[in-house]
Amino acid sequence: VGASWLLERESFLAALCEAQRQVQGGSGRLVFVVGEAGVGKTALVRRFCSDATDMRVLEGACDALFTPRPLAPFADVAAETGGPLAELIARDARPHEVLAALTDELHRRQTVLVLEDLHWADEATLDVLRLLGRRVKASSALVIGTFRDDELHAAHPLRLVMGGLAAAPGVERISVPPLTLDAVRELATAHDVDVEELFARTRGNPFFVTEVLAEATRPFPRRSGTRCSLARPV
Ligand SMILES: Nc1ncnc2c1ncn2[C@@H]1O[C@H](COP(=O)(O)OP(=O)(O)OP(=O)(O)O)[C@@H](O)[C@H]1O
Ligand SMILES: [Mg+2]
Repeated sequence: VGASWLLERESFLAALCEAQRQVQGGSGRLVFVVGEAGVGKTALVRRFCSDATDMRVLEGACDALFTPRPLAPFADVAAETGGPLAELIARDARPHEVLAALTDELHRRQTVLVLEDLHWADEATLDVLRLLGRRVKASSALVIGTFRDDELHAAHPLRLVMGGLAAAPGVERISVPPLTLDAVRELATAHDVDVEELFARTRGNPFFVTEVLAEATRPFPRRSGTRCSLARPV
């Protein structure tokens, strides 16, 4: 992700920096970065992490599988850290055991822990998240969880977790909106496209905007009717 040219994200980066300051002052934080698919959650978090050079960054992601790996994002983290956390995950430990090892690991160094795509989280991951969220203030970590809020149907288990954490101390939520017409115009500079139409068709979703612009830039072969295709590859 080309993070240096993110448009209209200054206030969200500032909010993440403020959370980081709180963590460095001794009070852990859990920040959920939410928004529709392709709105720029990952780009925002990567940009923040690449600036947060004074903290260790550990990252794990959930997978779009019908049978997700149990504890998938924590297994990613454990592959990085090794130690007791890795041993516990290798032997399918219970969520509270994983939480204890994770908490110890987070206490070793000031850490940004990124948990990506929680809308795909398995149940064990959600249990760890729930336990971690309740105690995050004492954890000395900045935990950042991302998820697509347009994919949370009414009975989605992540909704329950979010509800349970809504009033927990140190937990907050950043909603990332699509880009404005001005930002879309800036992205379309040097492209021969109708900006108003581009904005109307993409609703300012940066993933769609960049896809359409890439397609519009490709000289040939250009099949008729595909120029502004908004079909999203699955
Ligand atoms: N603020 C921005 N300014 C310009 N381009 C952006 C911005 N945010 C994202 N993009 C572009 O949009 C693409 C999609 O962004 P990103 O992958 O971060 O979305 P996402 O919200 O994480 O999507 P998903 O829900 O699929 O994980 C990026 O590759 C980047 O090129
Ligand atoms: Mg993403």
